[in-house]
Amino acid sequence: MAINLNQPVKPNLQNLTKYLEQVNNSSWYTNFGPLHQQLTKRLEEYLGVSNLLLVSNGTLALQVAYKALGITNALTTPFSFVATASSLIWENIEISFSDIDKDSYNLCPEMAELAISLDSNIDAIVATHVYGNPCNVVAFDQVANRHDVKIIYDAAHAFGVNVGDQSVLNFGDASTLSFHATKVFHTVEGGAIVFKHKADFERAKRLINFGIDTTNGAITEAGINAKLNEYQCAVGLTILDDIENVIAHRKKLFNAYRDGLQFIVEMPAWHKQANFNGAYMPIKLQDIEQRNLIESVLKEHGVQCRRYFTPSLQSIFNDKKVFSEQHSLSLAENVLCLPLHYYMSIDDVESVTLLIRKQLSKGSVV
Ligand SMILES: Cc1ncc(COP(=O)(O)O)c(C=O)c1O
Repeated sequence: MAINLNQPVKPNLQNLTKYLEQVNNSSWYTNFGPLHQQLTKRLEEYLGVSNLLLVSNGTLALQVAYKALGITNALTTPFSFVATASSLIWENIEISFSDIDKDSYNLCPEMAELAISLDSNIDAIVATHVYGNPCNVVAFDQVANRHDVKIIYDAAHAFGVNVGDQSVLNFGDASTLSFHATKVFHTVEGGAIVFKHKADFERAKRLINFGIDTTNGAITEAGINAKLNEYQCAVGLTILDDIENVIAHRKKLFNAYRDGLQFIVEMPAWHKQANFNGAYMPIKLQDIEQRNLIESVLKEHGVQCRRYFTPSLQSIFNDKKVFSEQHSLSLAENVLCLPLHYYMSIDDVESVTLLIRKQLSKGSVV
């Protein structure tokens, strides 16, 4: 058996060629070209959002969002991919950490509020919807109103996730997406920012184009180049044509895992009003010994898994202020992500599940 942790969705070559012909015929390769416009419109419709700005990756999406919103001092989560925190540091934004909720693995609003009440310089919260599981967005809205701070969600994992009848991307001042090849939806490399306010979107659109205002050519401030090119938009459009199938299949695999493992291991408590997008399959083991055991058994059978996320980010950026950290430290040791991608079958999931069940049921009744 050999099962990869992840495998990018391959764009259908026949369909991709049709889009690429459009690019060649237009001779418009980048700078907000026709496919960029098409992909923006179709993503806004599909996701149920407005003010969506395509950018060249999910890390720049975060950096540009911070700049557009004028963030200077952010409280963030220690339990995320390194880019959530490193993008802040790269932008010379002061950062501090507070702990996650032990059940959802997302930044805890109560602990964030406590941190903000102790440090009045904090002007933003940067929280991740970890594994696509929405944060407590209503509680964060209330914290934002009480303390006049901006909220930015790193929604790199949350493509196609809703809270009730709303896209999760409609909460906060901005949400960022990653369209990296391993994500549910991708453009090889790429990303997007969804802004609450049109004015922030307009500023960010100038920022990703060297600070140039495309309506009159004026340079309004120092910008960067973070545009998504037409060839990558062609990949995005091809994959978007088939996204319902991709997500449906990933969800089927995710549900099969959950059915097979629900009484064996813990999993993050999912937001009660949210759907799943099947982005990741995290499991929480009891302790480091159990985690090592499962890691080595899976490896022995050719099954890739990943400790995602580890280490807890305050231990990498260890000169930063930490308000609380207990749950993040422990989850960074005990969580493993199991293989989940479009080219896996239910049989694959059952094989992985069986390996884990066999190990963890030794000496106990399952
Ligand atoms: C939570 C999170 N934030 C940010 C990023 C960075 O996105 P990108 O690789 O598109 O720069 C990732 C990528 O995996 C991620 O998982």
